[in-house]
Amino acid sequence: MKPSPRPSIAKLAPYVPGRPIEEVEREYGITGAVKLASNENPLGPSPKGVAAAVAAASGVNFYPDGSATYLRRALSSRFGFPSEQVVIGSGSSELIDLCMRAFVDPGDEVVVPQGIFRMFPVAVGRAGGTIVEVPTKPGHVPDLDALKRRIGPATKVVAIANPNNPTGAYVPRAELERFFEGLPDHVVAVVDEAYHEFAREVADYPNALDELRKGRNVLVLRTFSKAYGLAGFRIGYGFTTPEIAAAINKVREPFNTTVVAQVAAIAALDDEEHCERTVSLVRTERAFLAAELARRQAVVNPSLGNFLLVELPIPFGPLEPEFARRGVILRPMGGWGFPLAFRVSVGTHDENVRFLAAFDDLLANGKLGLPAVAVPVGAG
Ligand SMILES: Cc1ncc(COP(=O)(O)O)c(C=O)c1O
Repeated sequence: MKPSPRPSIAKLAPYVPGRPIEEVEREYGITGAVKLASNENPLGPSPKGVAAAVAAASGVNFYPDGSATYLRRALSSRFGFPSEQVVIGSGSSELIDLCMRAFVDPGDEVVVPQGIFRMFPVAVGRAGGTIVEVPTKPGHVPDLDALKRRIGPATKVVAIANPNNPTGAYVPRAELERFFEGLPDHVVAVVDEAYHEFAREVADYPNALDELRKGRNVLVLRTFSKAYGLAGFRIGYGFTTPEIAAAINKVREPFNTTVVAQVAAIAALDDEEHCERTVSLVRTERAFLAAELARRQAVVNPSLGNFLLVELPIPFGPLEPEFARRGVILRPMGGWGFPLAFRVSVGTHDENVRFLAAFDDLLANGKLGLPAVAVPVGAG
């Protein structure tokens, strides 16, 4: 007899991350590839964050502050919640996982919109719970009324990502407010705002922290991985009620974030300039990419994130290596429930032009299932 994992783990489909540039370059014998596969920061990390981490590296013989006291204090004063309401994770992914481990037992349900960020089903599966995916509205917009209707006695958590990855779709403020009115008290509502900084200037984009201020049982997740460019340090944060924070901290590893990540995050939080430059580049380039793809008759879902979900008339899976061979790493979305689609992260202008050149090469060769019309890349 062989050792066998718990049945819920045996049937679990693991999260598949984007491939590193070096691995793709080696496989295809290419150099200088551009990676537009993991929604990373096109301008690199916050320089202030990197400087702080370098300075702190000489102290890594000591364990980190397990409570991330100074980072929680910095977030507390920035956002106006007491430190006991701030939770810190090795990326916000870990906080998704910790939330499920703290609240979900086998037999319990977690209700989410179809196409939600894949870490949610993975985390629910790891906890042994059951994920319930509720159909979305046109444009992959979460249907909050349907979500609320589906909540029952076995539901422990209801979650949305706003905006969602990979769809880029968002729930407007009025709908989020209505959702929280009359939400059953036994449920934790997770609002994952990993892309908040890219979305916050849109007039009807809500800030779920307002719901926490009203005393709702909400866990609002944010991250330093995107607008601050610290994905490799693995550091994310959340705001919630003191009770939910205490439960999450019970299941958390005592030293879940590193010395260097903590100080980098504190410094990056003050690096408004880098954050704003990133957000502004992403907005301009996202519009450029969306317009160029639409001209080529690809179906682009409107996005408030630093990425676009793009659908072709044919399955994208076999096209991933075609793009890779042309030096462009994209993310196929078949495993996320969108077999015809890929996700492209918004890069620098040069990277985006490079992606469009690969797209046009495949288009001209009739490989994308789209009409092969002559479409020179518009002036950026
Ligand atoms: C919606 C969403 N939430 C959370 C995360 C996790 O980010 P991290 O663990 O790097 O904070 C991502 C990453 O892509 C995401 O797209």
